[in-house]
Amino acid sequence: MLAKRALITGITGQDGSYLAEHLLSEGYEVWGLVRGQANPRVSRLRRLLGDVRLARGDLLDQGSLISAVERVRPDEVYNLGAISFVPMSWEQAELTAEVTGMGVLRMLEAIRVISGASSTIRFYQASSSEMFGQVRETPQTERTPFHPRSPYGVAKAYGHFLTQNYRESYGMFAVSGILFNHESPRRGAEFVTRKVSLGVARIKLGLAAELRLGNLEARRDWGFAGDYVRAMHLMLSADKPEDYVIGTGRTQSVRELVEAAFGAAGLNWQDYVIADQSLHRPAEVDLLCADPKKARTQLGWEATMPFEELISLMVESDLRLLTDGGDPDQDSSWP
Ligand code: NAP
Ligand code: GDD
Repeated sequence: MLAKRALITGITGQDGSYLAEHLLSEGYEVWGLVRGQANPRVSRLRRLLGDVRLARGDLLDQGSLISAVERVRPDEVYNLGAISFVPMSWEQAELTAEVTGMGVLRMLEAIRVISGASSTIRFYQASSSEMFGQVRETPQTERTPFHPRSPYGVAKAYGHFLTQNYRESYGMFAVSGILFNHESPRRGAEFVTRKVSLGVARIKLGLAAELRLGNLEARRDWGFAGDYVRAMHLMLSADKPEDYVIGTGRTQSVRELVEAAFGAAGLNWQDYVIADQSLHRPAEVDLLCADPKKARTQLGWEATMPFEELISLMVESDLRLLTDGGDPDQDSSWP
């Protein structure tokens, strides 16, 4: 039997790498959409996952997506590509709308144009708990109304509803995973967990004296990225196309994250952390906490890594990286 073929946008990002690894282990032929003339993240991906095939394309460029779908002829498309850093979405709101929002439309149209109304290509959209924003209830479920608090959250809500609309309009197997924050040693250094784990490693090794952070009171539901990509695959392997909330069901504050990370290195966070008002956001999402019951009962999915273990893993990984002379800012090394 021929191997199933998957096309992943955002393959050079955290989730793209874990998803590619997972699908390769399941016997898939994995293709990644890569953009740019000389994207340095592509060589990082190549070092980690030599078996991934690459197709050029950009979520801003409709023709390139049509060409990629035509060339790869995927059974499954995972749309992970996005401007995903929330603060950047205020600085470049229009670009965020184009990539994170309109990019979903372009990918769905590419599938529709190439494979027609009776498309058998299954489509996964990377929706986000940021859509809940100023939450109307806790924990958040598939039925909780959206109130996004950033241009990123608004763009994700557009992509979410559009995916649902293509399912209803064209009968496509198109689903959204509403994923809560998930982290790993491959997390971008701009996100708070990795900023903290790198900060702790630098302080422990005498490379830095302090760590400046924004809002310490915000609460997130943090899980391990490796678990979350399994959920994406399970959603596309289900009998029926449905949307799912994916998270741990627990919530911690940034303050608790900091305490755990410094504690993992035998340090007291209060000696090093400086609260910096300039790092606060124009509008904050104060509290996220998932109710992943539907995913547990219908997909048999569960988060496996406790919060403290995840944070220790990230701190240990960054201590190793810096001790070995790796440079996280150069995208050179990925465990
Ligand atoms: P990430 O590490 O920031 O990766 C983002 C990816 O998007 C990169 O591969 C980037 O490729 C690609 N990209 C950016 N602009 C693009 C464009 N114009 N065309 C094509 N690709 C483009 O994000 P992640 O953490 O892996 O998250 C994956 C997806 O899940 C994102 O859509 C994110 O919004 C969503 N999500 C993430 C979380 C989370 O906690 N991680 C939670 C909920 C939802 P380049 O190398 O070309 O820049
Ligand atoms: N990045 C960052 N840097 N965040 C900080 C800092 C800091 O110095 N100090 C406090 N925070 C707080 C933020 O204000 C926010 O409340 C929380 O830490 C988490 O910030 P991020 O790690 O940047 O993630 P996010 O929750 O905004 O967004 C991530 O998760 C979403 C899912 O809920 C991203 O991965 C999004 O792409 C994803 O959709």
